[in-house]
Amino acid sequence: MTIGVCYFPEHWPSDDWERDVERMADAGIEYVRMAEFSWGRVEPARGEFDFEWLDDAVDLVGEHGMAAVLCTPTATPPKWLVDERPGILQVDRDGTTRNWGSRRFTCFNSDAYRRETERIVRAFTERYADHPAVVGWQTDNEYGCHDTVRCYCDDCADAFRDWLREKYQSVAALNEAWGTTFWSQQYDSFAAVDPPRPTPADQHPSRLLDYYRFANDSVVEYNRLHADLVREANDDWFVTHNFMGDFDSLDAHSLAADLDFLAWDSYPTGFVQDRRQGDPTVDELRAGDPDEVGLNHDLYRGADGTPFWVMEQQPGDVNWSPHGPQPGEGAMRLWAHHAVAHGGDAVCYFRWRRCRQGQEQYHAGLCKPDGSPGRGYRDAAQAADELFDLGPVDAPVAVLHDYENLWATEIEPHAPDWNYWSHLRAFYDAVRRHGVQTDVVAPGVDLSGYDLVVAPALHLVDDERAAALRAYAEAGGRVCFGPRTGVKDPANKLHRASAPGPLADLVGATVDQRESLPGQVPTRVDLDGERYDYRTWAEWLAPDDADVVATHAGGVAGGRPAVVERDVGDGGVAYCGVWPEPDLADELLTRYLDAAGVVRTDRLPDAVRVAERGGYTWITNFGSESVDLDVPPGTDFIVGGPTVDGFDVAVVDAAPPDLSFN
Ligand code: GAL
Repeated sequence: MTIGVCYFPEHWPSDDWERDVERMADAGIEYVRMAEFSWGRVEPARGEFDFEWLDDAVDLVGEHGMAAVLCTPTATPPKWLVDERPGILQVDRDGTTRNWGSRRFTCFNSDAYRRETERIVRAFTERYADHPAVVGWQTDNEYGCHDTVRCYCDDCADAFRDWLREKYQSVAALNEAWGTTFWSQQYDSFAAVDPPRPTPADQHPSRLLDYYRFANDSVVEYNRLHADLVREANDDWFVTHNFMGDFDSLDAHSLAADLDFLAWDSYPTGFVQDRRQGDPTVDELRAGDPDEVGLNHDLYRGADGTPFWVMEQQPGDVNWSPHGPQPGEGAMRLWAHHAVAHGGDAVCYFRWRRCRQGQEQYHAGLCKPDGSPGRGYRDAAQAADELFDLGPVDAPVAVLHDYENLWATEIEPHAPDWNYWSHLRAFYDAVRRHGVQTDVVAPGVDLSGYDLVVAPALHLVDDERAAALRAYAEAGGRVCFGPRTGVKDPANKLHRASAPGPLADLVGATVDQRESLPGQVPTRVDLDGERYDYRTWAEWLAPDDADVVATHAGGVAGGRPAVVERDVGDGGVAYCGVWPEPDLADELLTRYLDAAGVVRTDRLPDAVRVAERGGYTWITNFGSESVDLDVPPGTDFIVGGPTVDGFDVAVVDAAPPDLSFN
């Protein structure tokens, strides 16, 4: 478990490097990521390479006992290349070219850009193939950042047609799968299919979903090109990529097969402002939302427990969120501990020094522009001193997350405030509020090792998926489904049978009606004599062979079942037909955690989360108020003590259920 940093030596006079690198080593930093956007510096004109500066920087890192992680520099090709080959640029839906001058503007399907990629990646990887300080590579940077997974250029149009030919074989099969008789949308050839460019009314949902899949596959292929070249040069190197938080358009799980582990970029105080529903609290502006960050840690951790990296960890204030608050005192250290508790093996801060040039001058570094240590440096050094080696996380619960369900529900949100991640969080948070480690995995993984599977919105379901879930439940597993489950087939068409379609037998109920509701309509259910709120999404259930757990409390739906459950084989299944607010989610999830025999804590204070890894439990306090902790006699505090201050952390050798808070 270790600390790293992202360094851009090319931004600083070479006289500074020795002192910078020495300071990194003094802080206990072990990994230095470099070269990320360096193509223009390394190849100032076609075929004229200047690697010497990077050689020096890599040597320095090695001489100070640290390891270098290098990046393929393809997120920012130089101007001369774009001038030579303007066809490599991406095009927006409306036909606007995405121009050179920032980053991530090149098309994943451009043959010319793939050839250029191969050329530059080979030059980099061959150069460092035998360098003892280089241990691995990050491919490119944040694929899809700035909404660039989907491009609408002519190369993409051709590639989409090929992708459809391969998938459907005949245009008749495509027409049948999509259902193109609606609004006369039949095609007479694959050549007639275009990317979904702007239309007056909504696009056909099946065409859109396939375009999203195709665009995703294009990134997978492009990434594979990088990964293969890196391994060709040196098979001992690791290959990873830095994904983003709560990111919609790229299926991170689909790139996993080509990477040794997944990494992601965590900016907690930015995320609560720019990608989460609801206004952030004052404490969240200082430390972020632990479950928003935690969910992404869990998503990027491998389903088999493979540790993830935080490749970029917020080092202080950031420039791209609406506001740039300073994190709370100690928050940068808190985030490192929180990541490790969730199964992270390395936390690399972005960036070493606040930069004096370019687009990110209002973004902190661990150090100030003059190179002297800042707030982040002290936090990073303390974390580096405190972290210790651990085995993988062992989670008893899986939350199923699937990008195709995300895309399909966001293509037809059916409510302005439908948000896939918020909805997933309603269920995920309820598990986390009870100190239970949770994997966030694709539905196709082997579920047999989990005690409880939570499927918040398993929207697209076919017979095969339904059979796998039935087998899991019959063998003793417990499943809790959420609303919008089993509504459509994988082509994004409604099942003939009422939802949950192929899962109806397993659930023992169908959805009689569904509705989406704005805030002025009361949305409540009755459960065990208590009344609970839900939001936005309601289904009226018709049980056939299931017990009613909760009923709608009033209005047109009054008295109709809202949540049902039943035993199946040695396990059981529950179906929650509403988007639960926290108290309802808590009531339901504790019921199913207990039924599944998952050991849990009482409901934790809102800003406090606990997580166990390798026999140690982390108590992370994302609030500004201190909390007092009761631990069993004989418990050792490896970090901190029984009073956990605001934005502070403690680590004990006891299990979460043995802890309590005053
Ligand atoms: C990340 C990106 C970095 C830098 C950082 C600023 O999304 O990968 O290159 O721009 O944001 O917070």
